[in-house]
Amino acid sequence: MPSGSEIRDVQRATWAGLSAGWEKWDSVIMEQLGPVGTAMIDRLDIAEDQQHLDIAAGTGEPGLTVANLAPRGHIVLTDLAAEMLDIATRRANAQGITNFETKVCSADALPFNDSTFDSVSVRFGYMFFPDVAKATAEFARVLKPGGRLCSSVWVKPEENPWTTIAMQAIATELVVTPPDADGPNMFRCAAPGYVSAVYEGAGLRDVAEWDVDVELVTRSPAQYWEMVSEHVSLAVAALQQVDEPARQRIATTVIAKVSTYEADGEVRIPGVARCIIGTK
Ligand SMILES: C[S@@+](CC[C@H](N)C(=O)[O-])C[C@H]1O[C@@H](n2cnc3c(N)ncnc32)[C@H](O)[C@@H]1O
Repeated sequence: MPSGSEIRDVQRATWAGLSAGWEKWDSVIMEQLGPVGTAMIDRLDIAEDQQHLDIAAGTGEPGLTVANLAPRGHIVLTDLAAEMLDIATRRANAQGITNFETKVCSADALPFNDSTFDSVSVRFGYMFFPDVAKATAEFARVLKPGGRLCSSVWVKPEENPWTTIAMQAIATELVVTPPDADGPNMFRCAAPGYVSAVYEGAGLRDVAEWDVDVELVTRSPAQYWEMVSEHVSLAVAALQQVDEPARQRIATTVIAKVSTYEADGEVRIPGVARCIIGTK
């Protein structure tokens, strides 16, 4: 098992490398993940003057939506990868959002005082932290008493064909080594109750979890493949290990499979995320 600092170094480099894909496909990704951000924000009770911390904010969500809801508040977007936060700043500037700042830091070592924030969000970040318990203890530390933490993770692969279609096709050309069960990977937190138990271990109360449906919508099967092969962490890593003919065969397999989801000029592939709420 790699050390915490090795995990952070790999994650930082991985997300720096994925950042161009996330910016290129921003509108498609944001449409897919939007219902999860909305579900999280609904439970955070955002006030006009909310002091909010978005962890693993990547290209800015759900933190920038919170910034819009809290015109007299202040939002701090944090992430391990400066390249992702640079995109968040460009997205904020394009939307005229000014009540925010960005900070490059790891979730498990936050440079903030105790009891600073009214709320903390973590959309699709938990799976990549070196130590989820240590990170959650940090979130609890920087929350004010009564403040809320809401996060989201992916449920099991079988319920997320938007990514498993690509991974199954890749597996026909490459022996994909299963990731370390307790190391960073997209489905590490998929077991029901996994994140809730971590919240309770950090002393949070009123912990609850619920599932949210998503849909990845693209104009065509070919666009689906282009997008997934440029921004999904597992797919990008696996594709680096195959040659061009194998890549072409994978693309053909994926496009044929995805065609079964095509209707009325678009492709809609479902997925399921889980949100977890807790109060300090
Ligand atoms: C799937 S993206 C989610 C981005 C955004 N929250 C969203 O939902 O659109 C995962 C993010 O986690 C960040 N990340 C990975 N390890 C991290 C760590 N130890 N601390 C903070 N952020 C981390 C990555 O850099 C990446 O931006």
